[in-house]
Amino acid sequence: MIHDDLQCVLLTEQDIKERVEELAAMIDGDFEGSERPVLMIGVLKGSFIFIADLMRALKTDCSVDFMAVSSYGAKSETSGQVRILKDIGENIEGRDVIVIEDILDSGITLSYILELLKTRKPNSIKLCALLDKPDRRKTQVEVQYKGFIIPDEFVVGYGLDFAEKYRGLPYIGVLKPSVYK
Ligand code: IMP
Ligand code: MG
Repeated sequence: MIHDDLQCVLLTEQDIKERVEELAAMIDGDFEGSERPVLMIGVLKGSFIFIADLMRALKTDCSVDFMAVSSYGAKSETSGQVRILKDIGENIEGRDVIVIEDILDSGITLSYILELLKTRKPNSIKLCALLDKPDRRKTQVEVQYKGFIIPDEFVVGYGLDFAEKYRGLPYIGVLKPSVYK
């Protein structure tokens, strides 16, 4: 049964599960034989479910940390400004890092995080986003691991929210515009 506030289901639980396994296989291939555990940095809150599933699908040794940023508030459009609400606790110098995001929209959040983490001298840094809305890009950012390219619609579920709601839905659906307008 689909939630009343949703217009349609865009990605089912099964679609997501299969793609997460494919992404994990790509990461396993790239990090085969690496000496230290890869550090996965989840961008809170939207990535918490994705990162939990991704880590369980990976064979690569990894550790996890989280960072929280804010650019939205209770709106469906980015404010264009990124604020760090919580920084990681790990020293990333010399580490192989993968930043895990729920969705790449304007690109502002991920490019900000990328530039910030680069100054801390990791050995390598890659980006992973479950969803990509290319129509709305304002800043070019290269994402090595991308789950799905989606149309320019506001989506919720599987960690993604609107005003802190719908994160627990096991699928990803399009929110009815009447809910946020
Ligand atoms: P960006 O900085 O514009 O790329 O925004 C990325 C962030 O915006 C994501 O981490 C989400 O928190 C949020 N976001 C962008 N589009 C959506 C959406 O369709 N649903 C829910 N959150 C979104
Ligand atoms: Mg987010």
